[in-house]
Amino acid sequence: MAGLRHVLNLSDLGPGGLRRVLDHAKARKAARRGLPHGAPDSDAPLAGHVLASVFEKPSTRTRISFEIAMRQLGGSALTLAAGDMQLGRGETVADTARVMSGFVDAVMIRANSHADVEAFARNAAVPLVNGLTDMSHPCQIAADLMTVEERLGRGVEGMVWAWVGDGNNVCNSTIEAAGLLGFTLRIACPHGHEPDEGFVAAARARGADIRIGHSPEEAVAGADVVVTDTWVSMGQADNDERRRAFEPFQVDPMLMAQASAGAIFLHCLPAHRGEEVTDSVIDGPQSAVWDEAANRVHAQKALLLWALGKLD
Ligand code: CP
Ligand code: NVA
Repeated sequence: MAGLRHVLNLSDLGPGGLRRVLDHAKARKAARRGLPHGAPDSDAPLAGHVLASVFEKPSTRTRISFEIAMRQLGGSALTLAAGDMQLGRGETVADTARVMSGFVDAVMIRANSHADVEAFARNAAVPLVNGLTDMSHPCQIAADLMTVEERLGRGVEGMVWAWVGDGNNVCNSTIEAAGLLGFTLRIACPHGHEPDEGFVAAARARGADIRIGHSPEEAVAGADVVVTDTWVSMGQADNDERRRAFEPFQVDPMLMAQASAGAIFLHCLPAHRGEEVTDSVIDGPQSAVWDEAANRVHAQKALLLWALGKLD
């Protein structure tokens, strides 16, 4: 419905909204340092509010971080498996959106199809947050941006990021972030696994330097951040041909050595150790993956506050 602050993609926030979310996430994280994870923030800004999260695909981080985010914001959370709902028996997405809008203050969905999330948003009377689709994963990238700024001690604007591997949903949202905040993104992917052209065109239209190639070495040369993800996303067909295409795209210590000396390594997780990344990189000193996962809760809190009109 018009007038609602849905977060289907990072571009829904605009450059100012994304910057506000990142700064607020960092400030709110700092303000609660030392508190147990379940304790509410002192201002409990979502007291009395309920979030429902619906999952069509598995999740560890997204599920836990949204539940903890609502608890810390003073509200409460329901987590629902789509297959246990009437949605799984054919009740339409539109009818489900109308019904859920009468029960809860906001909804988060992890769906197979981005078109279903768009349909939900069109029919919902409460804000909707995309918790991953085949097309994008905005909540993850909010946490990635926050993690990079914490670890490198400066804004992402002007940095060089390298994406090595599949041009998938997480890659698409990283491209959006590059367009919104203004950093260079060099993507190295196998032929036929390039990211979505619409995301690339939109980021370039905002002035971002997005390069798409097929050489991991060229992508990472001097980069501040090296990012990868699984070679086979949820819902994709796994086969030997696909794995052979991705083999040259493993992030190993030799590849990391070609990034800048202080470069950090990101992975949204779950990782497939020995495939897209070696143990030595993901467990090594340049890896920021555990902070990246933990920051999901702080990033989600700021996104929820933005969606509910509590952040400008
Ligand atoms: N990174 C991420 O979204 O993890 P989950 O699939 O565990 O939620
Ligand atoms: N690209 C992965 C991300 C998982 C969090 C997937 O869609 O399965």
